[in-house]
Amino acid sequence: MTSIANSIPTIGLGTFGRTGDAGMASILAAFEIGYRHIDTAQSYNTEEPVGEAFRRSGLPREQVFITTKVADTKLDKASFMPSVERSLEALGFDHVDLLLIHWPSQNNAVPFEDYMTELKRAQDLGHTRFIGVSNFPIARLEQTRALLGEGAIVTNQVEIHPYLQAPRLSSYARSIGLPLTAYQPLAQGDVRSDPVLSSIAERHGVTPAAIALAFLMAEGHAVIPASSNAVNLRENMRSVGVRLSDDEMGQIRALNRDERRINPAKSPRWDD
Ligand SMILES: NC(=O)c1ccc[n+]([C@@H]2O[C@H](COP(=O)([O-])OP(=O)(O)OC[C@H]3O[C@@H](n4cnc5c(N)ncnc54)[C@H](OP(=O)(O)O)[C@@H]3O)[C@@H](O)[C@H]2O)c1
Repeated sequence: MTSIANSIPTIGLGTFGRTGDAGMASILAAFEIGYRHIDTAQSYNTEEPVGEAFRRSGLPREQVFITTKVADTKLDKASFMPSVERSLEALGFDHVDLLLIHWPSQNNAVPFEDYMTELKRAQDLGHTRFIGVSNFPIARLEQTRALLGEGAIVTNQVEIHPYLQAPRLSSYARSIGLPLTAYQPLAQGDVRSDPVLSSIAERHGVTPAAIALAFLMAEGHAVIPASSNAVNLRENMRSVGVRLSDDEMGQIRALNRDERRINPAKSPRWDD
């Protein structure tokens, strides 16, 4: 395999809640199956196991794409960079591939300019190859463009799945050429029993989950499904080879019902 592309690999492994022996086994299995993009965060307690699994995999560093996220409790100027340095130490890396702001600061408790300039500074210091954001609505993306310039960030990681397709945010992101990364792309596994996805899946000889992932990738998003099950990890990877017809895309678009699952008190005002 050649070294990783200069952009986010479209399928990655989510690691939220994947701690302990089961978490380690899931990351190792994912590397074995061919996943090369792993999503972690300061708040997941999975940075150490991700680094450890990477070393056990024997893969060259340039063949894996590792994302981590600065927690919303570490956005102030005094905490930001030390937290990034701690992440690197936990991972055992001298840099990550992508560093995200996990959530914008609630009620602007930390001024936007402060943490966004720290994010850019982390990149300038070589702590990360790319920078991006997570849980940012359109207004924050516009502020980001005004502050850091066109093309400074490479993604906005947000909740997107067949039941929450975020049409306003997606169309804005498309208009400025910003790929979204769909978190919770399987609606926490609920897509497995969807009748529309199941009937399309049967035609393609894959699982409903693979159809959901293929749909999201065809919409231009990267996806980071999580699984602790080697069969599911393998089935999810098969989504990469699925080509959906216009009619199938239309059927899945019609599943949108604005069903948001992750909506803590610190959430910004969502667009969709
Ligand atoms: N930026 C943020 O604020 C944010 C928020 C939430 C999540 N995330 C990221 O997004 C990742 C994914 O989200 P998530 O883990 O909450 O939800 P998800 O990926 O939508 O769903 C994971 C669930 O789906 C099941 N599953 C996986 N593959 C399946 C298949 N082929 N068939 C049936 N069921 C299947 C898994 O069970 P098994 O283990 O049994 O396979 C697990 O219970 C997280 O791990 C995290 O990295 C980011």
